[in-house]
Amino acid sequence: MKKTVLSCIQPTGEMHYGNYFGAVKNWVDLQEQYDCFYGVVDYHAMTMPYNTKKLRQDSWDLIFNLLAVGVKAENLFIQSLVPEHVELGWIFNNFASYGRVQKMTQFKDKSKDSSSKNKDKFISVGLFDYPVLQAADILIYRADFVPVGKDQDQHLELTREIASRFNNQVGKEYFVLPETLHTETPKILSPADPTRKMSKSAGEKHWISVFGEENRIRKQIRSAVTDTGEPKEENEMSAGLVNLFTLLKAAGNDSIHAALMQSYKNGDLRYSDLKDATADALVNLSNNFREKRAELVANKKEIKGQIKQSSKAIRARAQQTLKEVKELTGLMNV
Ligand code: TRP
Repeated sequence: MKKTVLSCIQPTGEMHYGNYFGAVKNWVDLQEQYDCFYGVVDYHAMTMPYNTKKLRQDSWDLIFNLLAVGVKAENLFIQSLVPEHVELGWIFNNFASYGRVQKMTQFKDKSKDSSSKNKDKFISVGLFDYPVLQAADILIYRADFVPVGKDQDQHLELTREIASRFNNQVGKEYFVLPETLHTETPKILSPADPTRKMSKSAGEKHWISVFGEENRIRKQIRSAVTDTGEPKEENEMSAGLVNLFTLLKAAGNDSIHAALMQSYKNGDLRYSDLKDATADALVNLSNNFREKRAELVANKKEIKGQIKQSSKAIRARAQQTLKEVKELTGLMNV
């Protein structure tokens, strides 16, 4: 029996190489070995102020992006097409410790007034309750493994606590306690400022789109900062060079990576060679991804139908769990 993997991602705009190499590529690879469930979590996207006119489009865009880079349609669902997540989330509210949820650092980070102009920032109850819904996302499929970054460890801990309390109260080892799957994924930095992570919030220069056009990618790599001027140990590679090598390797160009690394060690690496090779590798990937995406978008109606179908099939699994949970907790089943 294959073990079950679950992960989810919020629908927010475009996908960059930090997202891809850091997480999504791993999702694609895990499909070989595991029974995978990957969710586009639109209920989670409502927890911060958002645009009601854009959310549905963002969810579909993310679906097309995920499909274009190799996530299989049958493993994908949209959370609001499986509303049982929310029902289980409510039940879990009663098994989640208030004191514990209060300690979640992601909530503290997202709710704090980071600048004075944010003084009147609206903080919703949903944002506070988010980790409980996340526990429902995971446990509703009885997932064994959850591939996420270290920043989610605390939420996984809470998920296990909820599962244990539930099991205790119903007197049965009903839920398996899920584990985080920490895969070594490359950390991609901003080409314009390699002291920080690649991210959209920092501005256009700081992220490279997975679906980027050749010219733009070449330009971004050509102007990538290689010397950040921070003091370095002797022989220590600058963060900018590390980032270019990381991208080149992540893009799968092992032999060129090895050759250029050797030049670096010999002290005769030409930065322009490294940049050309890195740009070539990314352009090659992006051209494929763009082409694939265009094909999918050309069959928009059919693809959307497929995702609605896969969500429905996945929903059947969720409904089964919910039915058993309602039985165990004294609620009514229809
Ligand atoms: N909280 C995750 C994040 O911020 C997204 C998420 C929601 C998730 N539900 C999940 C991740 C369930 C893994 C499993 O990135």
